[in-house]
Amino acid sequence: MSFRNVDPAPPSAAGAIAAICAHAGGPLDEGTLEGDVVRCPWHGSRFEVATGRRRRGPTVYDQPTYEVRPAEAGGYEARRVS
Ligand code: FES
Repeated sequence: MSFRNVDPAPPSAAGAIAAICAHAGGPLDEGTLEGDVVRCPWHGSRFEVATGRRRRGPTVYDQPTYEVRPAEAGGYEARRVS
């Protein structure tokens, strides 16, 4: 059996959260993904990947979120939304 992609266009927009932890600047992109939550490798704060909402401290802040779209000149562009 084979499958074919019926919609080859990339999504028009996607969401992202900042890679620098709101607590003390830890590298969230090096954190651990636990379901829909990313765990900061420095002190263990947890954030929802889809919304940036804080699930567990020590941080008291949510993560900034971005809308990411394909750029006309190629690549992608991000716009902060929260
Ligand atoms: S820097 Fe991320 S929890 Fe402290």
